[in-house]
This record gives sequence, C-alpha cells and structure tokens, in this order.
Amino acid sequence: MRTQVAIIGAGPAGLMLGALLAQRGVASVIVEARSRDYIEHRIRAGVLEQGSVDAVHEVGAGARMREHGLVHDGTILRFAGASHRIDFRALTGKSVTVYSQHELVRDLVAHRVASGAPLLFEVSDVTIHGIDGATPTLRFRHAGADVTLACDAIAGCDGFHGVARAAIPAARRAVFERDYPYGWLGILADVAPSSRELIYAHHDRGFALLSMRSPRVSRLYLQCAADEDLAAWSDARIWDELAIRLAADGFALATGPITQRSITPMRSFVAEPMRFGRLALAGDAAHIVPPTGAKGLNLAIADVRLLAEALTALCQAGDERLLDAYSATCLRRVWKVERFSAWMTDLLHTSDAPGTASFRQRLQRAELDYVTSSPAAMTTLAENYVGLPLV
Ligand code: APR
Ligand code: PHB
Repeated sequence: MRTQVAIIGAGPAGLMLGALLAQRGVASVIVEARSRDYIEHRIRAGVLEQGSVDAVHEVGAGARMREHGLVHDGTILRFAGASHRIDFRALTGKSVTVYSQHELVRDLVAHRVASGAPLLFEVSDVTIHGIDGATPTLRFRHAGADVTLACDAIAGCDGFHGVARAAIPAARRAVFERDYPYGWLGILADVAPSSRELIYAHHDRGFALLSMRSPRVSRLYLQCAADEDLAAWSDARIWDELAIRLAADGFALATGPITQRSITPMRSFVAEPMRFGRLALAGDAAHIVPPTGAKGLNLAIADVRLLAEALTALCQAGDERLLDAYSATCLRRVWKVERFSAWMTDLLHTSDAPGTASFRQRLQRAELDYVTSSPAAMTTLAENYVGLPLV
C-alpha cells in the first residue's frame, strides 16, 4: 500500500487530521487498534472551544453538532455556598459548545467512511520505520494480513498509550510530567441538568463539577482519591456527596438513574519534541492535561490544524519549513494550556483534610475570591477557557 500520510489512531486528532488533509487534497490512511463500535462509545469530555467548532464545520462534519451542541456563554464558580458567573461572551466575545467527544468521533468517522478514504479498524502490531529518511513506512496486521504502508509522513495520533511517541529516539526525547494526589469519579445520569451552565464547585470535602450532555442527560464529577475504589460508591452515596459539594441557596440537585461511572486519573504530561524526521505527534500522544479545564480534545484539534498545513506543504510542494516549525509552534500553545489546566486544577481541588487549615488553603481561598471579584482576573480565566489563539 502507499499513501501520502499514514495516521495512527482514530481519536479526535487522527480523524480530524484525516479530514483536514482530505480537504486539501492530501491522501491519508488511518489505522485504528479498536473497533468502530468501541471508539464511538468511549465516554470522554465534552466542551469545544470556538476554534474546534470552526474546524469541525470547516471539514463539513458539523451538522449533528449544530443540532445537538449546547452553546454556553459562561460558567459558574461556586464556593462557600455562593455562586459567581464568569461571563465568557461579555469578557471575550466568545462562547463554548458542550458536545460529547464520542458524538464528535461518531460524526468524524461517518464523514470519513462517506468519503471512501481508508479507515482501518482493529489493526495490530503497528510499527514505525524509516522516519529519519524521506520514505517512512508503517507496518501492521489487518484482517489477517501483514501490511507495509509506504508514505511521505507518519502522524502519531495514537494517544497516551500509543506507540508513536516511543519511535522518537530516547536520547532525543524529553518528558515533563506531574501526577496529582486525586482523581475524578465521573457519572452519566438520565436526568435533566440542574443548571443551564456548568458549575465548578470548590468545597472542603472536595471538588465537584456539574456538566451535561443534553437537556435530558447530566454529566457530573466529584474529586476522589487517585486510587479510589469505585465499588465503594453506591448511587445514593454519589448523589449525596454531589449534593453536599454543589449546595448553594436556591439550588436543588436533581437525581436520576446513573448509566455510566468511571474513575479518571489526573495527570499533566508533555513530551518534547512533537516531531522527529517524518514523524509528527499530535494530541494525547504528545501531551496530557488534567480534565479541569476541558482542554484535552481542544488541544488535539489545535495540533492537527497546524499539522495539516505542515503536511500539505510537504506532500504537495516538498516544502518542510512548516513541518520544521511544527513542534515549537505547537509547544508554545501546549505549555500555555498546560499552565491553565494545572492552575484551574490547583484552584478548585482540595488537598487538606476537611476541617483543617493550611497556608495553601488560605491562598486558594484568596485566589477564588480574586478570580471572582477582579474583572482582569475573570478575563484571564475566560480567555483561556474559550481558547487561546492557534499561534
Ligand atoms: N495502533 C493503532 N491505534 C492505536 C494504537 C496503536 N498502536 N494505540 C492507540 N491507538 C488508538 C486508540 O485506540 C485511540 O482510538 O489511537 C486513538 C487515540 O485517541 P485518543 O486517545 O482519544 O487521543 P486524541 O485523538 O489525541 O484525542 C485526545 O481524547 O483521550 C481523550 O482526554 C483526551 O479529550 C482528549 C482526546
Ligand atoms: C464534561 O462535560 O465532561 C466536562 C466539562 C468540563 C470540564 C471537564 C469535563 O472541565
């Protein structure tokens, strides 16, 4: 087989890259380890920056998002029983769209299949070769056959547990990471959200987030230990804890059947560089953010918007200048988003035992007070949340 760009991974990064390249007349093959059904039902986050929304519409995959996406002009920070709205629209002129990542993956898969461009599911034994030259190849097994795919470039969009990152020689690779002493217990519930906008709640017992998937499906999270035992949390215990942490005057948390639950670990991670020879990394393959700022999906899309331009120049004109600049350009934005995600995580999560006080906790309260009383501080939060410029 031969193509111009071999893409490893059919998550948001790989699928969006394939769509952007196709729109520019660049051929690609996407190889995915899992089945179509698996990736279309993998529950992940659900907030899209305007730039991500624009990219989905640009490739022509935005019809369902336009119909079902929920446009939000602000969000609510809640602490000490009081609520403080951050008005994105007034502060930045922008909004965000709440739309499930797995729904976006469904839309991008359908778009890819309809285009007839190759999207191979359930591939295995993917190995990367020749990235230090001009004729790299991807080898893998698919449908019982060994395949060698010749190409001009390989895009590693295979997530944190993929193989692409390790193809960069260890001596040329640097990793920066931070683990957090807590995680998120997340649920999906068949009940109308108790708030029109998202509520980020800081509480002595731990952080809680009220989010949503539709007018009839709620998505909620509560901070838990990093090694929390999900079996120790009955539906009643989950709802009781959420009600305590989200409590405020005039607010009542509606409960309903929990249809999905999971524990998400919290991690900040960046691998540098994001390009080596004819291999480029994008999305979770190169970086991870804690979910607090809802940035993982948006960072993946931002990476491939830049990578699509670089690979188009390479494949159509043999021009490597954008590819040469890709890693540094991406990392400037990645590190700003890592900063925001770590800051928002530290701002909202509790690391002191309930009822105790520490210097850090007092600083945290001061930061919450400052962010919700200073227009300058609110603007800083808002401009990061709605999405920083691509470059
Ligand atoms: N061969 C082929 N496919 C692979 C391999 C492999 N060796 N390893 C992983 N994959 C696939 C995974 O099955 C997955 O479908 O690569 C895809 C990577 O997708 P994501 O993990 O979703 O990463 P990305 O596309 O960068 O999107 C980042 O997804 O994980 C969330 O929170 C994250 O919202 C962020 C977004
Ligand atoms: C979600 O809806 O899954 C979600 C929303 C906002 C976040 C994180 C997750 O910050």
